[in-house]
Amino acid sequence: ADIFGSDRKNSKGLNMNIISESEPFFAAIEQFKNTQWQAGPLVNGKTLTGEHKTIVSPYDTTQTVGQVAFADDAAIEQALASAEAAFASWARTPVETRASALQKLADLLEENREELIALCTREAGKSIQDGIDEVREAVDFCRYYAVQAKKMMAKPELLPGPTGELNELFLQGRGVFVCISPWNFPLAIFLGQVSAALAAGNTVIAKPAEQTSIIGYRAVQLAHQAGIPVEVLQFLPGTGATVGSAITADERIGGVCFTGSTGTAKLINRTLANRDGAIIPLIAETGGQNAMVVDSTSQPEQVVNDVVSSSFTSAGQRCSALRVLFLQEDIADRVIEVLQGAMDELVIGNPSSVKTDVGPVIDATAKANLDAHIDHIKQVGKLIKQMPLPAGTENGHFVSPTAVEIDSIKVLEKEHFGPILHIIRYNAAELSQVINEINSTGFGLTLGIHSRNEGHALEVADKVNVGNVYINRNQIGAVVGVQPFGGQGLSGTGPKAGGPHYLTRFVTEKTRTNNI
Ligand code: NAD
Ligand code: ALA
Repeated sequence: ADIFGSDRKNSKGLNMNIISESEPFFAAIEQFKNTQWQAGPLVNGKTLTGEHKTIVSPYDTTQTVGQVAFADDAAIEQALASAEAAFASWARTPVETRASALQKLADLLEENREELIALCTREAGKSIQDGIDEVREAVDFCRYYAVQAKKMMAKPELLPGPTGELNELFLQGRGVFVCISPWNFPLAIFLGQVSAALAAGNTVIAKPAEQTSIIGYRAVQLAHQAGIPVEVLQFLPGTGATVGSAITADERIGGVCFTGSTGTAKLINRTLANRDGAIIPLIAETGGQNAMVVDSTSQPEQVVNDVVSSSFTSAGQRCSALRVLFLQEDIADRVIEVLQGAMDELVIGNPSSVKTDVGPVIDATAKANLDAHIDHIKQVGKLIKQMPLPAGTENGHFVSPTAVEIDSIKVLEKEHFGPILHIIRYNAAELSQVINEINSTGFGLTLGIHSRNEGHALEVADKVNVGNVYINRNQIGAVVGVQPFGGQGLSGTGPKAGGPHYLTRFVTEKTRTNNI
């Protein structure tokens, strides 16, 4: 146990300021500069072939990353049948054995860190820092759920009863868990879902986002290498409309863990409601319309530092990212002036360069939608800053980091998943209105607060309906076991990923009353 009494430590990641750590790291990354990966469905441990799709880099579509074969109907059927057949044995495998395999997977992720980071950069367009954080979070999820599963499942809970009667409560896996993940955390969320489901004793059908199938494929290969039986973890790359809808409609599944947009979560909810068979749980981790409330006691430079990292890093493609900044009138002009200067300093470009702050968005559709929103919102509001895209970004899906002042959150009808910040001014007397406006969106993921008035900050924190509140810091980058992550309302069902209650939704309960 460490000084906090924890039986687990988070991965230490990598400090790029320490040359003895960063030089060998960059040399190792370089080896994967031109690698071409081949991926496909992994069914019972065999990579299936079929019609291939060529994957190109979001930052330069003339560069290929590799090829992926998507799962066809036969692969889907085989994976479901095998995962169903493997459940009884995996559920009865001691939780210590399941946990050891996940600990081993965490070690293998660290050993293969450079390849995985290179893939995050090349396939998902992530910056090097985001790639480092991605692997670190994936490692943390595996270790965290391994420990949690042992705590919860190693022994049954003893319950009271009359003399001579033994009452016990057992937790067991639910069956075949379908794990469907997004492209924006292609390793961390992909493996977070999978490791939770496996630790709890479920077999798994993992479907990655179609844009990041190679990263998912490598993660599953490492999981098999770590000792997760090949029948227990099946990998089915493909689109949501084909593979995603087929596996969620299947009668044989025992639960779904989904992270992605609110619209897709609702679609899956309807599919589950309409299918034959048991009523099964849906864990949905979805989008947000995340706000930050800044009052006049705040320190403008600190505010801007946190606004820039919350809105523009990862090209704004975090569910936690700041979308709507509420500035108290007395401080607004100063914050906006500092923000304009800070945005001038953003380095936009190739995510493989350590200097880059803002890389590309994921694909041409995302870029087109975000560019259209910028054009529209500039008509509705007042442009504060739109960074020009530098030379060298022409072949990629780059979107200009943009800040626009608007009158009301109501002009934003949905989540805009990119580097676009909306700013709204308010007067001290309008604080309740601000809180109501934020709550009126129905989303409830993250909230930032900047204030040096503790009573005020805590009041806002209490009244806004969100899952994660951050006071006087940025509002991204939740750490496993430290800030369990997940929202309310349109932002998700809970329980929170990386938190002590997450596994409760992956298990079923059984009591045994024994009078022998
Ligand atoms: P998306 O909803 O388009 O896709 C997510 C996954 O669902 C993909 O694997 C996709 O193939 C699959 N899918 C699509 N249609 C499906 C269907 N009919 N049936 C089954 N599966 C289907 O989301 P995205 O664009 O990949 O990710 C971005 C979204 O994810 C944003 O809204 C973001 O806020 C959200 N997100 C939320 C969290 C969180 O923890 N709350 C974390 C990361 C991302
Ligand atoms: N867990 C991610 C974050 O907090 C989404 O930014």
